[in-house]
Amino acid sequence: MVTLQQLREVLVENNQSHLLHFYDELNDEEKQKLLAQLSNINFSEVNQLFKNAMESLNEQGVKLDSKMKPVPSHTFESEESINSELLAQYKKLGLEEISKGHVAVLLMAGGQGTRLGVNYPKGMYSVGLPSGKTLFQIQAERIKKVMNLSKQQTGTAGNIVWYIMTSGPTDKTTEKFLKNNDYFGLNKNDVVQFKQGLLPCFDFDGKIFLEDKNTVALAPDGNGGIYRALKNNGILEDMKVRGVKYLHAHSVDNILVKVADPVFIGYCVKKGAECGAKVVKKSGPNEAIGVVCQIDGKFQVVEYSEITEKTANLRDEEGNLIFSSGNICNHFFSTDFLNKIADRFESQLKLHVAKKKIPHVNQRGENVKPSTPNGIKIEKFVFDVFEFTNKFVTWEVPRHSEFSALKNADNPEGTAVDCPTTSKRDLLRLHKKYIENAGGKVTTNEVEISPLLSYAGENLEIRVKGKVFDKKTVILSDEEQLFMNNNNTIDGPVISNGKFYVE
Ligand code: UD1
Repeated sequence: MVTLQQLREVLVENNQSHLLHFYDELNDEEKQKLLAQLSNINFSEVNQLFKNAMESLNEQGVKLDSKMKPVPSHTFESEESINSELLAQYKKLGLEEISKGHVAVLLMAGGQGTRLGVNYPKGMYSVGLPSGKTLFQIQAERIKKVMNLSKQQTGTAGNIVWYIMTSGPTDKTTEKFLKNNDYFGLNKNDVVQFKQGLLPCFDFDGKIFLEDKNTVALAPDGNGGIYRALKNNGILEDMKVRGVKYLHAHSVDNILVKVADPVFIGYCVKKGAECGAKVVKKSGPNEAIGVVCQIDGKFQVVEYSEITEKTANLRDEEGNLIFSSGNICNHFFSTDFLNKIADRFESQLKLHVAKKKIPHVNQRGENVKPSTPNGIKIEKFVFDVFEFTNKFVTWEVPRHSEFSALKNADNPEGTAVDCPTTSKRDLLRLHKKYIENAGGKVTTNEVEISPLLSYAGENLEIRVKGKVFDKKTVILSDEEQLFMNNNNTIDGPVISNGKFYVE
């Protein structure tokens, strides 16, 4: 570790010496904490980042609209409009890759759930399903099920590693939660957690804030932090050792996410893609999701905040939105591409800068909670690597079966969108449809299918055909059912510590 004297010199040189302003008043432990934090920051690098960020802040006002083009048709396919044979081919190929151990999942779980208003990681949230399962549990069980499907098809289950990217604020709680729940039945060695980086919060003059007298104000570097984090935490190396060739990366908040989706993986592999984006048709011009498009011939996502109303409203002759490929934070990457990004392009990723109200301690030692923005936070976005490839594909899926995001808290009026109520509604609606397709009848909105029984509506006939479901039910896999029977419990299963108990 650097000495205090060395650190002082670096700070003076980089115009950040105020960070040691309170050093002499601190006790030994506080001094150590501050020194450890400061010696982890490369000040000339972050000062440069601030300069770049201010430049991109000035450019952010410049709309990209005039340059936007829809993705070329040869790089786009829609699940709803291709024939069932081709769909089956993609699925078969995806399951083959899974059985060979070529596929891993990367869960982006570093966000702080600010809009949802919880002080714990979003993956631990339970939207109130009959089973009480959390987002983490649902996703883990889908992984287990896909491995099962690959075994059914090929005779070999393959191994899907679950890489989970957390951040300073979500790391420890996530780790404890997964451990306490026995990794929801996944092999502990195949659940690999790593932390994304943090960046300092700056005032408008480039001075880094102190959160309190012995803590620098830091924030996660955005979900685009994955590229740096994959390299710095040895994850790319881990993938190489395990023989992983493809990665399915997705956000934590989509309750319908088809984790390690064999169809999407098969499609991307078949097309020889380095990276791909799963999209849904935008529900309307004002829906708050980014759109996948091309700018100057390069693939890109333009966020909803960056598009003008006029462009968002452009329609073709049939009345369809021209920019309709809604980004759902669900991506495919080859590991070769990830290595290329980490080695050559990471430092060129765009910076997204937001003016924020940043609480801090001022030089008089007073705690300040600003009522107007007083500084900036800098983030990188996961999709900003699309521009570094020509081998890019877009896969459009039906919203009702693949996308319902949990972003906001419910409100008393019941008018909130993308909230626990809509997540629960959309999942149970889909499950109702699966049951009806398999010949069952559902007369309530409280029937749930365990992911361990069915991944996407398959394998249900034997359990539901000719039956009427008229009360709160969770349809379990045989394995779960056996467990329930042995433990003499009948309804309301909640899985915890890898076991069931009655609500
Ligand atoms: C994201 C997409 C947006 C898309 C929308 C769909 C990005 C940058 N934007 O927007 O185009 O239309 O989802 O729901 O992907 N995360 C981290 N570390 C961070 C910040 C976020 O891991 O520092 C994770 C979150 O935990 C979450 C995911 O990234 O799983 C998406 O983050 P969020 O802030 O919810 O993105 P949106 O603004 O909703």
